[in-house]
Amino acid sequence: MLYKKYLILITGLLLNLPVNASDPQIHMLVDTCIACHGTDGSSVGSATPNIANMREKLFIKAMQDMKSGERPSTVMKVIATGYTDNEIKIMAQFFSQQQAIPHRQNFDVEKAKKGRELHNLYCNGCHKIEGRTQLLSNNLAGQQMLYLRHRLTEFINDADPTISPLMKNALKHFIDNNSQESLDDLVHYYASLGGK
Ligand code: HEC
Ligand code: HEC
Repeated sequence: MLYKKYLILITGLLLNLPVNASDPQIHMLVDTCIACHGTDGSSVGSATPNIANMREKLFIKAMQDMKSGERPSTVMKVIATGYTDNEIKIMAQFFSQQQAIPHRQNFDVEKAKKGRELHNLYCNGCHKIEGRTQLLSNNLAGQQMLYLRHRLTEFINDADPTISPLMKNALKHFIDNNSQESLDDLVHYYASLGGK
């Protein structure tokens, strides 16, 4: 009956139907990711981002940019190199359909309060959170603080040439009007949206 399962998977992909999470091919592909990103994309370690519910397009772009080495990464270049374009597409569809589990982390209440205001002024336009449709980039709510700090530092230091100009300009605008330190208020705000 295995062929039938593959037939269903292939038809599903052609029609853009949800990928069947119990399908063995999906499991073969994402098994490698589990140790770090958890079974359904909600990560285990603090330096590893949640990838559950990530927009398909951003997922594909991130994987391709890390595979080519254009986007700096510690472990992901080697991992991404092991996958074809089509396999990356299948995984993008799978992870985009998983519900992200926001991490519960220690945060500073005062900083989170300031961060909320700053987010609404400078970031919400593209990363809506309270409306819950995080249009352009997702995964800020309950994302790992360590990862967020690392990623923002990469952006500030111009270490990632693949970053979208939208994000680059938004960050520049933020720092021109605030300070680099106040970025940490945002990190505390995103952490405050994690599990209680
Ligand atoms: C050994 C741990 C590890 C494994 C295994 C792993 N990842 Fe990662 N992943 C990371 C880390 C750490 C980062 C941050 C970038 C870096 O430093 O490599 C990351 C980043 C990512 C990102 C970028 C997320 C973003 O917000 O931009 C994607 C997408 C991703 N991984 C997908 C995968 C997929 C798909 C697999 C399985 C095929 C996988 N990862 C396996 C550790 C891992
Ligand atoms: C004009 C739209 C826009 C605004 C405003 C904006 N961003 Fe972004 N942001 C993006 C886009 C698009 C990406 C995806 C970047 C990419 O992969 O090329 C992104 C990515 C990110 C990431 C990386 C996510 C990951 O998993 O790697 C972080 C962190 C982030 N933004 C934080 C912020 C913060 C904090 C603010 C407010 C100071 C902000 N953004 C304002 C468009 C925006």
